[in-house]
Parts: sequence; C-alpha cells; structure tokens
Amino acid sequence: KHLLKTELPDAEVIVVSNREPYIHNDVDGEIRIQRPASGLVTALEPITRACGGIWIAHGSGSADRRSVDEKDHVAVPPDAPSYVLRRIWLTDEEVEGYYFGLANEGLWPLCHIAFIRPAFRAADWQHYVAVNRKFADAIVAEAKSPNPLVLVQDYHFALVPKMVRESLPDATIITFWHIPWPNPEMFSICPWREEILSGLLSSSILGFHTQFHCINFLDSVDRFLECHIDREHSTVTTGASTTLIRPYPISIEWPAAALAGQPDIAGCRKAVYAKFNLSEDIRLAIGVERFDYTKGIPDRFRAVESLLENHPEWIGRFCLLQIAAPSRAQLAAYQAVQVEAQDVARAINDRFGRDGWQPIILIARHHDAAEICTLFRAADLCVVTSLHDGMNLVAKEFVAARDDDDGVLILSTFAGASRELLEALIVNPYDIRGMGEAIHQGLSMSSDQRRDRMRLMREMVAEYNIYFWAGRMLMDAARIRKRQGIEKPLD
Ligand code: F6P
Repeated sequence: KHLLKTELPDAEVIVVSNREPYIHNDVDGEIRIQRPASGLVTALEPITRACGGIWIAHGSGSADRRSVDEKDHVAVPPDAPSYVLRRIWLTDEEVEGYYFGLANEGLWPLCHIAFIRPAFRAADWQHYVAVNRKFADAIVAEAKSPNPLVLVQDYHFALVPKMVRESLPDATIITFWHIPWPNPEMFSICPWREEILSGLLSSSILGFHTQFHCINFLDSVDRFLECHIDREHSTVTTGASTTLIRPYPISIEWPAAALAGQPDIAGCRKAVYAKFNLSEDIRLAIGVERFDYTKGIPDRFRAVESLLENHPEWIGRFCLLQIAAPSRAQLAAYQAVQVEAQDVARAINDRFGRDGWQPIILIARHHDAAEICTLFRAADLCVVTSLHDGMNLVAKEFVAARDDDDGVLILSTFAGASRELLEALIVNPYDIRGMGEAIHQGLSMSSDQRRDRMRLMREMVAEYNIYFWAGRMLMDAARIRKRQGIEKPLD
C-alpha cells in the first residue's frame, strides 16, 4: 500500500482473474460465502485488500446474482469492505468452451507435464476469444484513467493484454502466468500459439514463478514470432512495445491470517485426532489439494503402500490424511483421477488396515483456510508430491502454520516451491519407492533436525512473502511508468 502511494501515486489498480475471491452459494435457501481453493486467490486477495481498487472475475456461485441483487458490483471482503468485486456473467456455453474446454482441457495439460493429452477444439477457441474480449471490454469500461495498472492473472486470459492495449495504449499491464510454461516443442502443438504469444506480449511485464519458465517462454517466442529478444535484460520487443519477462516466485501472507484464533499445537492435535478417531501413538501426514491429476495423489498413496511394505514398523502407527477439494469435476481426466485415487486408497486400506486403523483417510470436500491450518498444526508431516506445479502454495502454508518450528515437509522437485524451500525432503513424485523412503526419513528424523529445517524454511517464507512478490512487480512497473514519462511526457 505504501509502495503504491510512493512509487505509483496515480495508479488505479484493476485485478482480473477467472476465479473470484468470494463465491456466494445458495445452500438450502441460505447464502453462504465460500473462499475458493485457489493459489491465485490465496495470493492476490491480501494484496487487493490492502491496496483497494477493483477485481474483475467470473461470477460462479449458485447465488452470486441474487447475493448482489442483480448488480454487477459488490464491496468485499463482506465483513470489512475495502475493494470492489465486479462480476462478469458468462453463459453455460461460454464456460464450457472457454473455461472447461480451451483453458482446462487445452492450456492446462499443455503447460503441465502430467501426460494428459491436450484437446484443442476450434469452437472452444472461439469462446476463449469471445470471453477474453468480454473481460477486456470490462477493464476498459471500469478504467477511469488513461493509464491504469492492470493485473491480469493466468492462462484464462492470454489475449486480454493485447485487447486492452488497443483501447488503453498507456496502461501498465502486468500479466502473471500462475502455471508452468512448457518448452517450445511442447508449446508448438497449440494451434493458436502465435496468437497466445502475441496476446501476452502486449503486457508491460510478464511474470512466471521460476527462471526456468521464463526461459521456456523466451525460447517459444524465439521459435514462433518475429521480434527482438534481449536475453541479458530479459525483454522482448515487438514493433514499438517492449515486455519485461521476469520470475516473481509467488508466496503467501505472513503471518498467515488463518493462524489467528488457532489453538496451540497440542490443542490442534487433540482436536484433529479426536475428529478422525486416531489413537495417540499414530504419526500423521497431511496432504491438501484440489482433486487434480497434476497433484500426484494416487502415486502418493502408492508411496504409503511402499512405506508399509518396506518399513512394517509403521503398520498401525502411521496415517495419511488426504484432503482433496473437488475441482473441474465435469472433465473426464478429473473424474478418472478421483476414481483412481479412491480405488488405490481402498486397495491399500484393505491390504494393511486392521480394526480401528487404516493407513489412508481420503476426504473429498472443500475445507476453509482455518480448518486446513488446524490440520497442518496437528500433523507430523506435510506431503506435497505434485507431478508438476507452477509454485504450490500449500507447501508455504504448511510452513507458515508451524509457529512451533516443528513438522517435516516432503516436497516434489517438480513444484516451483522446491527452488526456495531447500530444507524440505525433496522427492521425485514418479519414484514411488523414493517417496516411501522420504516419508520414513521424515518420520524418523530427530527433533533438532526437524526444527533446524523448519526454521530455515520459515525465515524464507517470512521474508519472501506475498507483499515481497507484489512489491517487486510494482517496483518494476513503477520504473517502466517513470521511463515512459521521460520518453513521452504527458501533456
Ligand atoms: O493456481 C493455479 C490455478 O490454476 C489458478 O489459476 C486457479 O484459481 C486455481 O489453480 C484453481 O483452479 P480453478 O480456478 O479452475 O478452480
């Protein structure tokens, strides 16, 4: 907030994402407000709350229209409003084509290495273009100044920067791509690769989580567009416009808001053990994610099987509690991973379970941030074994929840977070035996060793928190704006 005031004093902030930060749902005639399971929302919401402005998103809740009394604008957060949520209404066909189709059956598997074949349908692309246009028009309509600061989020809106630039040539557009960027060979299979690249290159700044994804992007541009790439300064110039391509590893609020009102560690443990009927001598691991095939949930269960096979001393003494929030459930690949995870869990529980104990508890429902924080505080281990992940904020949320400096993090080498949380036990999620051994190592680790590792990870997340992430992007934006002011003084 301070930085915005000092460095970008006249900037009008407009955030744009598909997922809305507050979803109003109708539950038996009563409106319930839900916070979505979304890394993007977890990261962006505290920033927008602090800075104010407007957040444009797709209205997706069953009671959204009713809750805002048929109006498009609603002040949020509901308990202490500080910014405006502008909802965009989409038809079922648009949601089908733009969100489920192009974004989640096309771009999502294109960008994540999970061996799911991307589907590219011309009709989905047309919806994607039309919905991007709808959002771009809303940005232009909301902008009160000729040079707003527009924060475009994610793979749902690759064309928005170009569409906004056409109407607001002086806007500062920061686009953040929350998922990995593939290598040029992989990217080349997308029939609309040039459109996507040139759409993104109307941004002033294009951010990724890691340097590796920036390099993949630059290599893709190099392969498919006519432009000048300055690798030393990490810029791409097309015609008169230059885009800065930089890594900004996303993070979380520190201290975590979910910590407020939490019982102490012993209290959390007691509550969770009572709730799940776990006996006191059981060591608890926790997994939390959306039910997504990129998260590697069935293989994580197989790792538990490997642990119990190779270290039978944990039979009856270890439990993995897996929370999986239903996600994109109308897509076949998502249904398949749910069925697979349930089958694998059942088979392992049948094989090893005994009276009053089962090694895997799978709960497929959404949990709010406070519930998850309690689970993190109750656990001995947190297991984040994604097959591929841009960053993975669950890993950082676990670290933030452990104000007792205890707990072991097991982390996939293919999650961006593994570049920062070096003291986690880093695993290859395709190596089932290796993951089982890492769980054994985590369970056997001395208390001193756990604390030394956790302290270092906490220092990292505390310093490189979400305000640092936003701050670096805003500083870069401020520089660009000042430079533009010198080159083209406003009259
Ligand atoms: O963090 C990556 C991301 O794809 C976000 O863009 C998105 O909000 C989140 O995962 C959850 O996905 P969805 O919004 O489709 O439920």
